[in-house]
Amino acid sequence: MKVRGVRSSAFIDPAGGNRDRVERLLVSAIGVLLDHLSTAASRPPLPPPAAKRLPVSIPDRGRPEGEILIELRRLVERSANVANPSYAGHMDTLPSVVSVLGEIAAAGLNNNMLSREMSGIFTDLERSLTAEIARYFGLPAGSGGVLASGGTLANLQALAVARNARLGVKRKGMAGIQRRPLIVASEGAHTSIEKAAMLLGLGTDGVERIPADRSGGMDPDALRRFLHRPGKGRFPFALVGTAGTTVAGAIDPLPELAVEARKAGLWFHVDASYGGAMVFSPSLRGRLRGIALADTITFNPQKWAFVTKASAMVLFREMKRLDGRFRIGAPYMGNGDGLPNLGEISLQGTRPVEVLKLWLTFLHLGTEGIAGLTEEACRLTRRLADRLGRIAGVEVAAPPPMNILAFRVSGADRRTEALQRFLLARGVFLSLPNHAGRRWIKAVLLNPYLDEGWVDRLSDSILEYMRSGISQRAAPKRAENARI
Ligand SMILES: Cc1ncc(COP(=O)(O)O)c(C=O)c1O
Repeated sequence: MKVRGVRSSAFIDPAGGNRDRVERLLVSAIGVLLDHLSTAASRPPLPPPAAKRLPVSIPDRGRPEGEILIELRRLVERSANVANPSYAGHMDTLPSVVSVLGEIAAAGLNNNMLSREMSGIFTDLERSLTAEIARYFGLPAGSGGVLASGGTLANLQALAVARNARLGVKRKGMAGIQRRPLIVASEGAHTSIEKAAMLLGLGTDGVERIPADRSGGMDPDALRRFLHRPGKGRFPFALVGTAGTTVAGAIDPLPELAVEARKAGLWFHVDASYGGAMVFSPSLRGRLRGIALADTITFNPQKWAFVTKASAMVLFREMKRLDGRFRIGAPYMGNGDGLPNLGEISLQGTRPVEVLKLWLTFLHLGTEGIAGLTEEACRLTRRLADRLGRIAGVEVAAPPPMNILAFRVSGADRRTEALQRFLLARGVFLSLPNHAGRRWIKAVLLNPYLDEGWVDRLSDSILEYMRSGISQRAAPKRAENARI
């Protein structure tokens, strides 16, 4: 290939003409990444504040490999340091090594999950693996799922199928609907439920938020009261239970929700984006009790199963319902074997081979590895909750049902904010969500390299802060290499 302006390493020559040169580039790039990631603990979790804008101009002449590597290094160095164990503010952490490998291989192969003829082996892998995961969640024969690029899309697809099944609007749309359709969810449910309602023609007011009880999960009495009298002209058709709320990791009482959903004829969807990973642990699985009764489940292995982003799925109790309630056939993609193309039954059309990194991660960690990681994270979180519970003036949201802990300085939003900054100055990034009208500090103990020493140093720092009466004004600025 000789095209003016196109460098000889622009593509991998299918006839092997530039293998060495491409290899040098790829190996050097992996080197940049490894240099960075294997020293992550020595850098603060957040990069220095970014400039407001990053001006770019696309060059006329393509740049040589050396410059590409320099640019890669420059951007890598400014990225959020999620691999640092003290980056503990969100549901993000370092990915499994083999998921990075799967990501690279998938990118190189560039198959398309749209249709069987474009990705036969990976289509089969996705169908088999989602069916196997559905089995772990206790769904019956005939269940399965499709991957989606993130939990928001997975929730959207689940609720689209729910809407089409309960309202019968797949063909004619919402125009003739007389009563106001409602999705019912707890106050702690993720905002992607509102996004789905907006996109499904219900409007964001189409989500009825049920208050939580002291555990942070949906109050089942409040749910019953609402379902008994939803209001004139209002028509609840789907109930969303959450297994792992975004701020506090709370789990809705799924068995009770399942009963209410059945009694009221509602579609029962469980958003287990985060907490779903516990299904692989024999000792934690019980916390998801009731999930096997769901019609659909969202699960994001990109969170607590350590797969690179994006990795999410929607599981269906009955895969065959997709045919009547969602599938849009693509006759131009005929493959003659009667099996659906994934692009016909999933929300996205063209999409990358996200199943490879997922499968390699399960293969490498095994369910035992995932179980061990989730159990250890829960143990450390309990330890942190116990220690914080003993510090006067610190309020813990609820006993943590998993590895997310929300806490605050009792009755003091500004001191809570100052405490978060104090911890950041000591090298620990915890986030600062608004929740139930108050400021909270959220810790997500996700990184496999966290240990008891880290938990104890963190709680000692919080104790020191509370005892010292450090005020908002006096909270120190962030130190570059400070550590707890
Ligand atoms: C409970 C829950 N559901 C859904 C989502 C949305 O997932 P995504 O950001 O992958 O779209 C999140 C994200 O944090 C979540 O916590």
